[in-house]
Amino acid sequence: MAELEIRGGSSLHGTVRAAGSKNAALPMMAAALLTDEPVELIRAPKLADVDSMADLLRGLGVRVETTHAGVRLQTVDSRVVRPDDDLISSMRAGFCVLGPLLARRGEATAALPGGCELGSRPVDLHLKGLAALGAQITVDGGLVTARCKRLQGAAIDLSGPRGSTVTGTANVLSAAVLAEGKTEIRGAALEPEIEDLGRLLVAMGARIAGLGTSTLRIEGVRQLGGAIHAVIPDRIETATLLIAAAITRGRVCVAGARPQHLETVLDCLRAAGAAIEASLDRITVACDRPLTPQSVIGKPYPGFPTDLQAQWTALAAVLPGECTVRDEVFPDRFAHVEELARLGASIRREGNAAIISGVDRLTGGRVTASDLRASAALVLAGLLAEGQTTVLDAGHLDRGYESLDEKLNALGADISRRR
Ligand code: EPU
Repeated sequence: MAELEIRGGSSLHGTVRAAGSKNAALPMMAAALLTDEPVELIRAPKLADVDSMADLLRGLGVRVETTHAGVRLQTVDSRVVRPDDDLISSMRAGFCVLGPLLARRGEATAALPGGCELGSRPVDLHLKGLAALGAQITVDGGLVTARCKRLQGAAIDLSGPRGSTVTGTANVLSAAVLAEGKTEIRGAALEPEIEDLGRLLVAMGARIAGLGTSTLRIEGVRQLGGAIHAVIPDRIETATLLIAAAITRGRVCVAGARPQHLETVLDCLRAAGAAIEASLDRITVACDRPLTPQSVIGKPYPGFPTDLQAQWTALAAVLPGECTVRDEVFPDRFAHVEELARLGASIRREGNAAIISGVDRLTGGRVTASDLRASAALVLAGLLAEGQTTVLDAGHLDRGYESLDEKLNALGADISRRR
């Protein structure tokens, strides 16, 4: 896997453009299974996970072409109902093909995703939602099979013990649009990526009311058509770049961003003492004075995103004072803590929280990335650490960040890539 070598100490300055959202683009690609007409996703990001989803869909009879603007998908063969086991287990969003396959082909068989570096990741809510739509579901030998001639609209509650489920909402919504009659999804995930998926489905001819709220009302249609849709900017990438500016005490503008998707994060940066300027489609953060640490709690949207708690921990590690970073969505998502400690951070785990005592400086060293957001946290720490930091297994970063190293270098960082 790739390695990144980061020579720390540069402060970041300049403007960089946000990529399209990974977590919006992936279920949207799966939604191309719902029609034989072309679906074009403008600003689909260039990521390893997007490539894996493209391969998964190719195996299911979808023609996938990368275009200058994004990605174009068209179902050309509807016979296969079992996605490749390895590809589906390599990425959580792969499971989002289940709903569309079931709705369009009447059957789907997929390997059950296991736990991962983030901890336990069940799919009971996905299956509950599809069963409520009339699917007969069996789980046997690690494989889930769902069958139904025509799904039937139903009342479904997707709220779980840790909030709603993002990909579960995507899966059930993408199936319900072709079900017969009306479906009401309560406890739908509020994440902007779900609203954006809903907008694509509406552009394809689906009837959905309540997008952006926790209750989605769907009136099933017989068939859907093609659409051209511009994917929303990636709020997690945007915020990672803003935190990079904060950690290096620089000034960075992210263009093509959506400030309204990041209100909680921008409030936390402001509370820490960063100067934020947000307009319709750009956010600038400037940090010309020392910041103070702020405790955050990872929660479902519009709370502080779990996908940013590792990066926030890297920032807090070098601010004077103590703060707590808690994760209520994935209580075990703390693989980055031990690696940050290798660079000199002082962090202790307590249940679903990391308690961080800021240190004056970090020192470069060799650290290993274990997952996407943990990798980003290690890169951020490396930007500030004295000397050279080597991030091993940095391929995790490429799953969800479009050329993060190149973007950071364009802002003044010194990162080189091996392999
Ligand atoms: N959960 C259940 N049952 C289910 C599904 C989820 O109990 O059937 C629990 C999970 O264990 C977790 C919570 O509900 O505690 C939320 O999980 P969710 O299903 O919302 O997560 P996800 O859909 O698998 C998506 C993103 C993640 C992001 C989470 C939370 C995609 C492809 N993935 O995962 O993104 O962390 O929502 O916002 O959209 C990332 O980008 O780095 C990433 C991990």
